[in-house]
Amino acid sequence: MSAVFNFTFVPWFRSVAPYIHLHRGKTFVVGIAGEAIAAGKLQHLAQDLALIQSMGVKIVLVHGFRPQVNEQLAAKGHEAKYSHGMRITDSVALDCAQEAAGQLRYEIEAAFSQGLPNTPMAGSTVRVISGNFITARPVGIVDGVDFKHSGLVRKVDTKGIMRTLEFGAMVLLSPFGFSPTGEAFNLTMEEVATSVAIELQADKLIFLTEIPGVRIHPGEPDSEDNPIDTELPLAAAEKLLAQLPNPSQPTDTAFYLQHCVKACKSGVERSHILPFAVDGALLLEIYVHDGIGTMVIDEKLESLREATADDVGGILQLIEPFEQDGTLVKRDRTEIERDADHYTVIEHDGVIFGCAALYPYPEAKTAEMAALTVSPHSQSQGDGERILKRIEQRARAMGVKSIFVLTTRTMHWFIKRGFVPVDPEWLPEARKRKYNINRKSQVLVKNL
Ligand SMILES: CC(C)(COP(=O)(O)OP(=O)(O)OC[C@H]1O[C@@H](n2cnc3c(N)ncnc32)[C@H](O)[C@@H]1OP(=O)(O)O)[C@@H](O)C(=O)NCCC(=O)NCCS
Repeated sequence: MSAVFNFTFVPWFRSVAPYIHLHRGKTFVVGIAGEAIAAGKLQHLAQDLALIQSMGVKIVLVHGFRPQVNEQLAAKGHEAKYSHGMRITDSVALDCAQEAAGQLRYEIEAAFSQGLPNTPMAGSTVRVISGNFITARPVGIVDGVDFKHSGLVRKVDTKGIMRTLEFGAMVLLSPFGFSPTGEAFNLTMEEVATSVAIELQADKLIFLTEIPGVRIHPGEPDSEDNPIDTELPLAAAEKLLAQLPNPSQPTDTAFYLQHCVKACKSGVERSHILPFAVDGALLLEIYVHDGIGTMVIDEKLESLREATADDVGGILQLIEPFEQDGTLVKRDRTEIERDADHYTVIEHDGVIFGCAALYPYPEAKTAEMAALTVSPHSQSQGDGERILKRIEQRARAMGVKSIFVLTTRTMHWFIKRGFVPVDPEWLPEARKRKYNINRKSQVLVKNL
């Protein structure tokens, strides 16, 4: 084995460890668009899901079947009918949906049953259990359109699903539900996944979709300057949703976003939109710090917010001990008062226990994050990271391409979060003039 391998593998594996601990025992609801299976992604998805489950995550898998139903309809010489962005399920479409769901369940169960030696599935024992966990009701007649056998979720058998998960199995759901009279209704994968995530109060709702996520400037063309927004706070997601037109296609930005917002508002703290086109998308999102898709997160708004002049006292109290021991550069009260709106704070019950400031250098398309501090009483609970994410969002909104920090003691914390060390010469001219040679601060930059 080459020595280089040890130096890359070991730190890489250790970097994943915190996420393995974090997610153990948690419940994830994963919705897979039928398009992913049509595109031949099932084998790799099953391998990744089996791996995630083996690391202690309880998984409810909901598959979609839009293209498969349409294919069956085409084979029967029928056209797919939609209204209000929803399928109208006549009796032919219902037959097709039942056939497609049956076929897909077989394929999914088969994919989880492999265990050939020397493959990622070797030694995995994934028990997949499906069942009549969803009670449905008809959509009915909307604006004069009869949706026939199209339905909506009426009830989720939470106890049944929980018991199955606790038994160590993966729960597999098709977008079908039954009425108390035994009538079958065709549902949507998105609605089933969202309802199940809400009813279970799952830790994550994850959609594997045909889109890569939500872009920083939705509606503008994809480009390097318009990357995927990896973290959308619930309030921002709701605001965006209100501005977007009603979705009619799964590729419309609002299509999956509306379900993520609904889940988050109903107590599912994190919902994700990921591209199935990227191999290993689930692993990259769950076990890597920045992730690759968009995560809508319900961070308690009252706690993480931009500062006002009233917060200056709290900020000073927080940073003073770190100024005294030399971790932070001393700032005077007038400077903080003048720059209060540059600060982001975390507040709880009227006490500020985290802060950071952002100073833009627009001419160099960058901004400095300064005075990042979390109270010693609440360190190591992820607040430093939450503040960093918010500062990154503020920086993106300003249109800068990177953020930088100057630090003498916290280098590794930043490196772990995607910053890279650069020479002080890198600093924008205006900042270079203020650089204190004697302090020998390390400059670190993160591209946004
Ligand atoms: C750096 C700081 C903001 C992190 O805040 P936090 O809320 O504890 O951060 P998180 O919970 O997101 O991350 C905690 C992890 O970072 C690690 N960490 C904390 N300080 C670190 C440091 N100086 N170097 C490397 N890692 C550090 C912790 O050990 C913890 O790791 P663990 O989860 O494996 O136990 C906080 O430690 C702090 O206020 N430090 C003093 C002020 C400071 O140095 N600010 C930076 C100025 S440039």
